[in-house]
Amino acid sequence: MAKQEWKPGNMVYPLPAVLVTCRDEKGKDNILTVAWTGTVNTNPPMVYISVRPERYSYEMIRSTKEFVINLTTKELVWATDFCGVNSGRDMDKFERCKLHKEEASVVKAPLLAESPVNIECRVTEEKKLGSHSMFLAKVVAVHADEEYMDEKGRFSFAKAKPIVYSHGEYYRLGEKLGTFGYSVKKKGKKKGKKPSKKH
Ligand SMILES: Cc1cc2nc3c(=O)[nH]c(=O)nc-3n(C[C@H](O)[C@H](O)[C@H](O)COP(=O)(O)O)c2cc1C
Repeated sequence: MAKQEWKPGNMVYPLPAVLVTCRDEKGKDNILTVAWTGTVNTNPPMVYISVRPERYSYEMIRSTKEFVINLTTKELVWATDFCGVNSGRDMDKFERCKLHKEEASVVKAPLLAESPVNIECRVTEEKKLGSHSMFLAKVVAVHADEEYMDEKGRFSFAKAKPIVYSHGEYYRLGEKLGTFGYSVKKKGKKKGKKPSKKH
């Protein structure tokens, strides 16, 4: 079968769909859904979010240089969609989605209590790209809910039931296909050099 050539477009899918929380200088809080997000550096830990300037949250993040990335789960899928199709200009999305706030430890923006992982971020740079402005940010604190820890105290992402976003649709994750480095692990041998987990 032949492959079709398509016009250039955004085709890196699936993506996370995260709930980004922010607080303006007067203390008003808001949430927006963001799929244009990801990790850009290991050390120091750095992330990005790309936000259209017309979003209500844009000015809040631009002026305070702070936001929180809250990871989403199956339980949060309705709120993830709702916060992505309604503006904080018109309503209090925390109230409408029955979501609760917790104080962050470094930034002023609130954490979402219902999210299993909250990533506090401080903007280091804004890059205007066209339709969106990319906020590059340093991770300044991370909170992980103990509810999802296994018996060894390790955080289990599988337990948290994360969701992904692909071409306008939300999915939960399916079966585990392998673990990091399994492709180079020698069968039956316990000793040997472990592949580096550093990306
Ligand atoms: C799944 C999903 C992903 C989204 N990703 C982005 C994004 O990466 N950047 C962005 O600016 N808006 C994105 N949006 C749209 C905003 O979340 C939406 O316009 C929201 O109403 C903005 O809220 P605000 O006006 O309260 O800031 C996304 C919406 C959905 C449903």
